[in-house]
Amino acid sequence: MWEAKLDQINHHLEALLPQEEDILIEAARYALLGPGKRMRPLITLLVAEALECPLQSALTPACALEMIHAYSMVHDDLPCMDDDDFRRGRPTLHKVYPEAIALLAGDFLLTYAFEKLATAPHLTVEKRLQLSQTLAARAGGRGMIGGQVKDLQSETKTISLQELQEIHLRKTADLLTAAFEFGGIVSGAPQATQSSLYSIGQDLGLAFQVIDDVLDITSSQAKHGKSTSSDEAHHKSTYPSHLGLEGAKKKASTLLKAAKEKITALFPSHTPLLTLADALVNRHQ
Ligand code: IPE
Ligand code: IPE
Ligand code: MG
Ligand code: MG
Ligand code: MG
Repeated sequence: MWEAKLDQINHHLEALLPQEEDILIEAARYALLGPGKRMRPLITLLVAEALECPLQSALTPACALEMIHAYSMVHDDLPCMDDDDFRRGRPTLHKVYPEAIALLAGDFLLTYAFEKLATAPHLTVEKRLQLSQTLAARAGGRGMIGGQVKDLQSETKTISLQELQEIHLRKTADLLTAAFEFGGIVSGAPQATQSSLYSIGQDLGLAFQVIDDVLDITSSQAKHGKSTSSDEAHHKSTYPSHLGLEGAKKKASTLLKAAKEKITALFPSHTPLLTLADALVNRHQ
């Protein structure tokens, strides 16, 4: 359904990365170009399209989000974090390259994402700045990185459902939210639209991580493309551990319903974002 857009994203990711025969670049290419779902860049392109913005202005920012996501996966899988061996249907980066190279390839992708944003074509300097500030906020210490810290701390203590929600909002929903916000920024959307996009991103991003927790229990490595039963092995607090599997799925569908109402209010005659919202939550991998 999104074949053309996914092709554009994959070609652009490939074109943005250097080609050098260098261990760092090879490792970065392995992490970034592996078969991921590309949900974050796709969100940005679909929001830009709904706001009638030319896709060529959205493509580089969309790909910068995928670089941040890929780096976060590389670091998340390291032995000092979730210690996982399998991702996107293949061994994790630190299983193929030395651990230090995996760490540095993650650092490279993080830094390179901001370089590409700073020079993104077809955008004003103001928009590039706004994109950089938004990404730094969502991926930084008060966003994704902060969530990852609390996620690790939750392995050794009991936390409330409220605290778990906060972890999931920060570690996962914030970057997905940036994907929605990016679509608004490249299109020059007004503040009210930006606020709605933020709110849709938080709902769907939380639902996305709730389902990730569910799949960690119900799926297999072959189907999911990544290590499963990882949360239980690390005594993580998850939605299923708090609410049970059915309770977690119900939470995800409540969030999906809320997000879809907000999408319909914002884009009354545009259905692709509703289809995408369904795909983010009703997924099997
Ligand atoms: C996995 O993200 C990690 C989470 C934040 C839940 P995705 O499910 O988007 O992973 P890929 O990019 O498709 O591999
Ligand atoms: C990942 O959460 C969140 C980030 C990397 C920011 P998980 O640890 O649950 O993701 P998976 O299951 O390894 O993909
Ligand atoms: Mg993790
Ligand atoms: Mg993990
Ligand atoms: Mg997980």
